[in-house]
Amino acid sequence: MAQDDLKRAVAAAAVRYVPAGEVLGVGTGSTVDHFIDALAASGVRVPAAVSTSNRSTRRLAAIGIPVIDLNEVEAIPVYIDGADEIDASFSMIKGGGGALTREKIVAAVARTFVCIADESKRVEVLGRFPLPVEVIPMARAFVARELAKLGGVPKLREGFVTDNGNVILDVHGLRITDPVALEGHINQIPGVVTNGIFAARRADVLLLGTREGICELRRPQPAQDFGGT
Ligand code: A5P
Repeated sequence: MAQDDLKRAVAAAAVRYVPAGEVLGVGTGSTVDHFIDALAASGVRVPAAVSTSNRSTRRLAAIGIPVIDLNEVEAIPVYIDGADEIDASFSMIKGGGGALTREKIVAAVARTFVCIADESKRVEVLGRFPLPVEVIPMARAFVARELAKLGGVPKLREGFVTDNGNVILDVHGLRITDPVALEGHINQIPGVVTNGIFAARRADVLLLGTREGICELRRPQPAQDFGGT
């Protein structure tokens, strides 16, 4: 089965996580494009959606789902989005499509984050996929120097401007063994808007499209310390 068929299959499986009659959070990317198609075919009633990109907004409008401003909603029960990489703890790299900032905002609001991905996205350690970092244009060179100090090789995504009017540095060669720490560290560099590590707020559910079928996985809970002697 080709990768795009796995994406289509997992996108179709995500439709049953859509709560009828509730506002839906919708991510960005080719897997999400398939999800929007599957949603249209399903007949599930979605009164409105919060979108993470102009690309998804256009597709949602085309199937008749009104897109509303995040400021108009207090809660988003479910957010459905893809990932570029996901590890065993459900930390992710996202932003291959350049929509990481809005994705991170909507993910933060959502009660349940359902990640839809084909099996190629599952990794032991995050970092083989270049880490996208959205940067205010005037800070580009400074932020690139700071990212290089972390051991990565930042490359400007040529000819690309985000929906927020910023640029993206894709950082190659990182081996991200502590995603929570690195996410926080990079966000402290002045000029960084967001980085594509989604670890502080990671996925809750992973629908993984494999050649053997769809795997539905829940986020592993951290081991509990029961104290005692
Ligand atoms: C968009 O900015 C990304 O975070 C996407 O969710 C991610 O790149 C997955 O994309 P595909 O579904 O196209 O693989």
